[in-house]
Amino acid sequence: MKKIAIISTLILSAAIVFTSCRDKRETGRAYMPDMAYSRAYETYAQRDSSIFTTDPKDAGHKIFYNNLSPAGTIKRGDLFPYTVPNDSNGLINLSNQVKNPLEPMTGKELEEAGRLFNINCAICHGEKGEANGPLAPKIGGVKSIIAASPGFSDGRLFYVMTYGQNNMGSYASQLTKEQRWRIVQYIRTLEPKTAATETTAKADSAAAKK
Ligand code: HEC
Repeated sequence: MKKIAIISTLILSAAIVFTSCRDKRETGRAYMPDMAYSRAYETYAQRDSSIFTTDPKDAGHKIFYNNLSPAGTIKRGDLFPYTVPNDSNGLINLSNQVKNPLEPMTGKELEEAGRLFNINCAICHGEKGEANGPLAPKIGGVKSIIAASPGFSDGRLFYVMTYGQNNMGSYASQLTKEQRWRIVQYIRTLEPKTAATETTAKADSAAAKK
């Protein structure tokens, strides 16, 4: 009796082993589908509308998911949300009240900010911000950054990058808040030296020659 049980178990297992690998391209039967297929929401996956909803009204009987982080939360290490509205009051008044939250740049950060400026801005504004980038004639109306920036607050420069201005698009999705503030700092290094710094520089070089 025992023998029969052992033999039939062997035959059964051999049958399972051989039939389970019929086609190498197929996964075969999923014994536990929950382990084979993730139930979590996958990036870019199509959402099953019978399970998920983006409408808060359906939130009771479906899973509400709208891709946004919960209100009042920020990503770890991120800067505070920028709440200045995209309108004329935002541009002319409110933008100026926002201070650059970053510490002054170190050499490495300056290099990175320059790299970001050359990738994102120089194509229109030119490497020195003088409105002479290769794309400037095609876009039309490109303004000199350094002609205007000495009169602009850091907050206003950040505002223009965040929302764009006329023919210039927004850079909010290409550059993080931190990167935009770094570019603001970089623009300050491009600005022509004021008369005061020029005289000290001249005096310094004159002193060095002596
Ligand atoms: C596709 C071309 C293009 C790119 C790229 C571009 N800009 Fe502009 N930018 C413009 C144009 C055009 C204007 C003029 C908008 C207007 O009519 O007021 C402008 C205006 C500005 C102004 C305002 C100048 C003023 O006098 O009001 C600032 C500051 C500025 N850009 C900064 C930047 C920075 C920083 C970047 C990179 C993150 C950048 N721009 C990328 C086209 C561009």
